[in-house]
Amino acid sequence: MDGPELRAAREARGDTQQAFAEWLNACMDRRYDKGRISRWEGGTEKIPQAVADLLRTPVQRRRDRATVIAISNQKGGVGKTSAAVNIAAALATLGQRVLLVDADPQASATVHLGISQAEASEAGRTTFHVMLKDQPVANAVVPVCDGRFHLLPSTILLSAAETELMAEPMGTLVLRERLAGVARAYDYILLDCPPHLGMMTLNALAAANSVLIPVQTELLAMMGVPLLLDTIAKVRRRGNPDLSIIGILPTMFTARHTQDRATLADLTERFGGSLRIFSAVPRSTIFPQSVAAAQPTVDVASDPSTVAPFREVAQSLIQADQTEEADVA
Ligand SMILES: Nc1ncnc2c1ncn2[C@@H]1O[C@H](COP(=O)(O)OP(=O)(O)O)[C@@H](O)[C@H]1O
Ligand SMILES: [Mg+2]
Repeated sequence: MDGPELRAAREARGDTQQAFAEWLNACMDRRYDKGRISRWEGGTEKIPQAVADLLRTPVQRRRDRATVIAISNQKGGVGKTSAAVNIAAALATLGQRVLLVDADPQASATVHLGISQAEASEAGRTTFHVMLKDQPVANAVVPVCDGRFHLLPSTILLSAAETELMAEPMGTLVLRERLAGVARAYDYILLDCPPHLGMMTLNALAAANSVLIPVQTELLAMMGVPLLLDTIAKVRRRGNPDLSIIGILPTMFTARHTQDRATLADLTERFGGSLRIFSAVPRSTIFPQSVAAAQPTVDVASDPSTVAPFREVAQSLIQADQTEEADVA
């Protein structure tokens, strides 16, 4: 690739040299600046092979802005993080450019993907640093799973954000503002929310285009869903009017348990009229095993039916976006 070709690729994206450098940095974990882009375009410096390869990779779709998805339920241990990690990996496998934001101080997604919280924190590459220390997102993301997608790691420091955000002007809009800077670098940005409806979850709902609600198929698990739906309705009324709900993802389902089957039937009866209910994620030891192996479950499950619901969600997202594009065209 020569200078004029690189320039044509940049202009085709509608990027300034600065925006192009930021996009490359987000994709490749580098620190290029606009001067470097200018030297490549002018032919005074050789274009790295990895940059040429990235620009030649056919991408099925380059949209203007990423679709931002909050994965939320104020109940803990219902499979939010598993859904976030696996849907991110499934979208990446389908050729999408994906950023997973760990928005939970418990940092389960960060741990699941084998990233050291201490190192991320030391380097200022965490959601906390992005939201409260002015760290640009593009400088904080970490490539994971052999570079297939990016993670914005979390640490326990983020627990301080709950009170610090309350002191910020428009403190529920901080994540939305910070993510806007990388909206062009990704097709999907997934937000793994903490298990409560505090400032971080409100930030995620304000930043999102849509919400996926994982619900465990156990007795009483759906009791918290109306409160979450009510919160989503308020967020819609107060500033994010287009916030939609992708649907409910039933999780940890054991088909041979009468109770699980009854809960799934209840869930469908109560919410199936207005919300999509995805196929249930079965309960399986492969989930904790994949966490221990620091791999997405979709990459290691020997039985594809165990992880099929994540692929179903990933495909439905891509389909919905394509339909939307066709409607706009
Ligand atoms: N389908 C499943 N079957 C068995 N264990 C699961 C399943 N999904 C998640 N887990 C395990 O349950 C625990 C909680 O899941 P997690 O995704 O972290 O929930 P949350 O993010 O809602 O707190 C984790 O240890 C995870 O490995
Ligand atoms: Mg979690």
